[in-house]
Amino acid sequence: MFTISVIGLGYVGLPTAVVFASKGFNVVGVDVDAGKVEAVNSGRCYIREPGLDVLLRDVVSKGLLRATTDAVRAVRESDAVVIAVPTPVRDGVADLSYLREALLAVREGLHRGLLVVIESTIPPGTTAGFAKPLLEESGMRAEEDFYLAHVPERIAPGRAVEELLNMPRVVGGVGPRSTEKAVELYSRVNSKLLTTDATTAEFVKLAENTYRDLNIAYANLLAVMAEKLGVDVYEAIRLANTHQRVHIHIPGAGVGGPCLTKDPYMLISIDPDFWGSELIKIARRINDYMPIHTVKIVEKALIEAELEIKNARITVLGAAYKGGVGDTRESPSKHIVEELIKKGSKVIAYDPYTSETFGAERSLSLEDAVKDSDAIVIVTDHPEFKNIDLEVIGRIMRHKIIIDGRRVIEPYQAVKHGFRYYGVGFGKAYKL
Ligand SMILES: NC(=O)c1ccc[n+]([C@@H]2O[C@H](COP(=O)([O-])OP(=O)(O)OC[C@H]3O[C@@H](n4cnc5c(N)ncnc54)[C@H](O)[C@@H]3O)[C@@H](O)[C@H]2O)c1
Repeated sequence: MFTISVIGLGYVGLPTAVVFASKGFNVVGVDVDAGKVEAVNSGRCYIREPGLDVLLRDVVSKGLLRATTDAVRAVRESDAVVIAVPTPVRDGVADLSYLREALLAVREGLHRGLLVVIESTIPPGTTAGFAKPLLEESGMRAEEDFYLAHVPERIAPGRAVEELLNMPRVVGGVGPRSTEKAVELYSRVNSKLLTTDATTAEFVKLAENTYRDLNIAYANLLAVMAEKLGVDVYEAIRLANTHQRVHIHIPGAGVGGPCLTKDPYMLISIDPDFWGSELIKIARRINDYMPIHTVKIVEKALIEAELEIKNARITVLGAAYKGGVGDTRESPSKHIVEELIKKGSKVIAYDPYTSETFGAERSLSLEDAVKDSDAIVIVTDHPEFKNIDLEVIGRIMRHKIIIDGRRVIEPYQAVKHGFRYYGVGFGKAYKL
């Protein structure tokens, strides 16, 4: 039976391992975290992803997925290895130490015919210029004795299983035989494969995420301008996007998560001296500024209600970096909570998807969170927040102020229920 080792059982590796196993492969999950290994072996899913828990229990109970901390042994027993370890960026430089550790284990277990796939996001040239020579130190040659490819991961948290099966995948080998072997493997789970070389695949992944970050930065720039102009940026963008060649993204209280906050830096690391990279750095700065901007709107809202931010009781709705998931990595919520606390506010946080509060007091229900609150700040567009009963929360709040960082509430509805409504990119507070 074809055996695949998946090294790194995080947000990418765990769904990947489960989906391969669900297609009948024998999968060995590998992680340095013994807690994750134990969880997998007992059929417990530690990532909140629709459908993943059921699928994981099923494949573990059928003996198709098991986990271990012994990477070398897993590689020796495998026909293919998929690497999904972290590749953070520190001071503008990609930290490839986790990848190196994983590759060293692969090198030790390397054998003829093995296919090695890197799914982690990496700087262009890493597969051919870093992974290949490192593995070839074993004495074996890529394309002859073993195969090596980059298949970048494109999944969005909250849609991992669905997207692993249906989102087109770019497959780039260090040579044609490696590409072919990788296609053979991935075609068993996904029919939409696009082939290229490894370096192009690496470049494409970074180009995609940087495009999204730039586009969001542009939307955020428009949001700040719309506030000055007294117009509603959401309405403006909606209208602009009716032009068939215009696709402006959604502005908001900031960009978080493990990808958009780092991948643009990985892209510009190709040529750090090129002045044109400023475009990407400025976009990052705009997006990093949005949590601070949101706090400025909170301050303005409180002043207009003749309240002070110091000692104000403020409810922050959402700790996760995006709606419908519990992932809090690089979340704008962290900056907003910390800034409000620094300014002397009493901050209460509520997020139905995670217990993280970034130092705010945690509430276990929306009602508890908003009770006696002076203002609500909506930071995450969780579906639950879209159905807030404004009548009910308006009755239990001390002051009826909403600062909506994600356009979760219709401004008109908020005002109709007696709220002062403020929002990122919303310049119409007094026209309603
Ligand atoms: N999370 C996403 O949505 C996403 C999407 C696309 C690409 N990526 C990329 O995928 C890669 C993994 O991201 P993630 O979000 O899954 O990270 P993660 O931190 O959730 O998971 C990584 C896992 O690797 C393990 N690990 C670290 N070093 C190891 C080693 N030497 N051997 C075995 N296990 C090891 C960690 O313990 C952890 O469980 C990164 O390069 C990231 O940029 C992530």
